[in-house]
Amino acid sequence: MKNLTIINHPLVKRDLTVLRNKQTPNNIFRAVLRRTAALMAYEVTRDLPLKSVQISTPLEATKGSKVEKPIVLVPILRAGLGLVGGFVEVIPDANVGHIGLFRDEQSLRPVDYYFKVPKHLGTSLVLLLDPMLATGGSAVAAIDYLKQKGARMIRFVSLVAAPAGVKKISQAHPNVRMYTCALDRGLNEHGYILPGLGDAGDRMFGTE
Ligand code: PRP
Ligand code: URA
Repeated sequence: MKNLTIINHPLVKRDLTVLRNKQTPNNIFRAVLRRTAALMAYEVTRDLPLKSVQISTPLEATKGSKVEKPIVLVPILRAGLGLVGGFVEVIPDANVGHIGLFRDEQSLRPVDYYFKVPKHLGTSLVLLLDPMLATGGSAVAAIDYLKQKGARMIRFVSLVAAPAGVKKISQAHPNVRMYTCALDRGLNEHGYILPGLGDAGDRMFGTE
């Protein structure tokens, strides 16, 4: 799939194994997800355009680099919150928006309950964050909203993705690049990713 990048870094694979393991307790799950997010941020931003800036070291004038476009992080609540800390660690000047969506358990359709995004999305690189891309309903609804608010450059970042979700995004929004740490086998009858890691929100917040 040409719009999909799989982050294959060995440290990410190590962390994903801990996150998938059902014996991992909530506190470790949160800490490892945060660390993985910082590693993902590094990969997702690897090709960012830079502009040259003039600075002075204590010894002489020299040229340095600055990231050209502002970066806006937008987690999809709740589970997307688990990725924000790691991204902010390596992109400390990012602004952060929030999109509140949950899947209806019967229909698997996304239900929206909250939207708040920074202004000037149109000139920013928007990184939409959600650990789980299952049917793709939530991601497509979030991208629809961001585009309605003026976003033009959007990257969708997940930890684990199912083929159905990748297909749905690439059909609905072919100009959105997707990043994930694993493309899993498929979905079960309840729309859960297989092998996946279970319900990411519940595992983060202990709400099962
Ligand atoms: C999960 C996940 C995604 C969505 C993925 O959220 O964090 O947002 O499901 O499923 P989809 O691709 O089929 O739309 P959930 O609805 O469980 O809400 P929560 O994060 O508040 O628990
Ligand atoms: N949401 C989750 O949290 N996990 C899945 O496997 C699918 C949707």
